[in-house]
Amino acid sequence: RVHPKFVNALPDPNRPLNCFQPSNLLGNAYVLRLREFSTQIGLVNPAGQKLTTVLWGYGTALQAPTSPGRTFSVRSGSSIQVTYVNELMRNFQPIAHRLPVDTTLMWANPGNLGGLAPVPLVAHRHGGAQGTTSDGLPDGWSTPDANFNGVPDLRGRLWSQPYTFDNRQEAGHLWYHDHALGVTRLNVHMGLAGHYLIRDANEDQLFSRNQLPFAPYEIPLAIQDRMYDSTGRLFYPATDPANPAAPKPTHLPEFFGDFIIVNGVPWPVHQVEPRAYRLRLLNGCDSRFLDLSFVRPDGSALTFHQVGTELGLMDAPVPMTKLLLAPGERADVVVSFRGLAGQGVRLLNSAPTPFPGGAAVDAATAGQIMLFQTVLAMNTARPDTTLPTFLRPVHGALPAPSTVGAKVRKLLLLEGTDPYGRLQTMLGTVNPAAGNPVSPAHGTFLYSDPVTETVALGSTEVWEIHNTTVDAHPIHLHLVDFRVLERQPFSGTVVPKPMGAGGAITGGWLTQVSLTGAARPAGAHEAGRKDTVVAYPGEVTRILVKFPRAGEYVWHCHILSHEDHEMMRRFVVA
Ligand code: C2O
Ligand code: CU
Repeated sequence: RVHPKFVNALPDPNRPLNCFQPSNLLGNAYVLRLREFSTQIGLVNPAGQKLTTVLWGYGTALQAPTSPGRTFSVRSGSSIQVTYVNELMRNFQPIAHRLPVDTTLMWANPGNLGGLAPVPLVAHRHGGAQGTTSDGLPDGWSTPDANFNGVPDLRGRLWSQPYTFDNRQEAGHLWYHDHALGVTRLNVHMGLAGHYLIRDANEDQLFSRNQLPFAPYEIPLAIQDRMYDSTGRLFYPATDPANPAAPKPTHLPEFFGDFIIVNGVPWPVHQVEPRAYRLRLLNGCDSRFLDLSFVRPDGSALTFHQVGTELGLMDAPVPMTKLLLAPGERADVVVSFRGLAGQGVRLLNSAPTPFPGGAAVDAATAGQIMLFQTVLAMNTARPDTTLPTFLRPVHGALPAPSTVGAKVRKLLLLEGTDPYGRLQTMLGTVNPAAGNPVSPAHGTFLYSDPVTETVALGSTEVWEIHNTTVDAHPIHLHLVDFRVLERQPFSGTVVPKPMGAGGAITGGWLTQVSLTGAARPAGAHEAGRKDTVVAYPGEVTRILVKFPRAGEYVWHCHILSHEDHEMMRRFVVA
């Protein structure tokens, strides 16, 4: 049975009503309440009756919770304060998690009521250059009974609220989502994510010259995959019949849902005018890569233009017919429906799972994202836009990436097995000096292991990410924006650490590394300020990173099922 598609209207997170309003008169403070609520997102049973889904969302004292949460729309350079209050309670009692929590993972264990209630939450602003205690790091969680909220965590750090976001960065598409250690995938599955847009003078100028579509012709699209049971309840798989040693419930190496939601609604439809639209795309899936195209009824793909990456506009629009977007990545694209009056254009996904070598996507379910119907008459009061040759008249061209003087840091993506016999992908360093005995700190790559990446404040580094696994992983660094330089095939020998409990291989080294082919430059779709990059199997991916602020942060795979299973490491800027 295939669920009906293109029936429900697309919510527009850019409409003022769908944006957060500040909670003070100065307009610089936001108090957000995280609550459970029930709603009809447009799921129906075979008889066509609407089903109700329980979600977790972000609201305020005056605005009911929604999922995705409302959009932050703020000016570059204007500082705001944000307080997130965990109110996952019923009758003043903290509720238990709605999804199966695997308590064998390293997780934000609140330590009472059997580990399932209260629910730990922490909101992270992804793409923001904020201080450590405003970052929403995985250890900075709190519970409704104030456990750990404002008291030191296990490492003695105080996680303060409110967060301060000075927004001293260019216009860009940030987002916020839950990041609690070991349960991020479950908390995001319950609905805890939203858009965060920074606006600036450069964009204003493009808007006023009609060179970039703006509201209502600019629409953020959060694309996510989900599973539901037959009653409309969110479902998250947590059994592995193939592994008798697996705990019950168990973490699984990835999650691929058979429902696609956009801005919270399954396979929506949006009615458009025959003109250009700016779509701010976010891949908010757990593990699913998206290879996106806009396809006419005759099966031909539209040419569209990418105008920006995660954290800013590109120098010039890049024409394309397909765009790969990994979990955590965003892209700013302009699609024109001009000349398509009366036609429907479907947004489709063709990425295999896992990416890139996995099974073909099911064309009837996750292969479809949404439908644009060109049925509205042109609003002649708003002339159509024409993209300029250059998109950064105020900021100027992005400087060409220069690696002169940059320290090179060699990093490793490595597969092993955890003590329950489960596949585990980890992060680590490459044998730092051939011939030197490697210290245990270099071979233990779990989240709680000692920090091995300490970076000088203000310095620029080239991070060389060696992927020895069979899958692509989207690697994300907190705090920074970076440039993607190039990718190059390599070979090397992984030396696993001696086996631990249950035959576990929880670390190892890469030795005898040699480059085996020519480097290929970053893709045209990556030519901008990035915070997440796809590291392909068998390649070293080189990025150029400047570290603007001191503190402790994390870098991790943005496949949520991987970051929850230790594919995350801390780094320190000092
Ligand atoms: Cu989008 Cu550390 O996360
Ligand atoms: Cu990964």
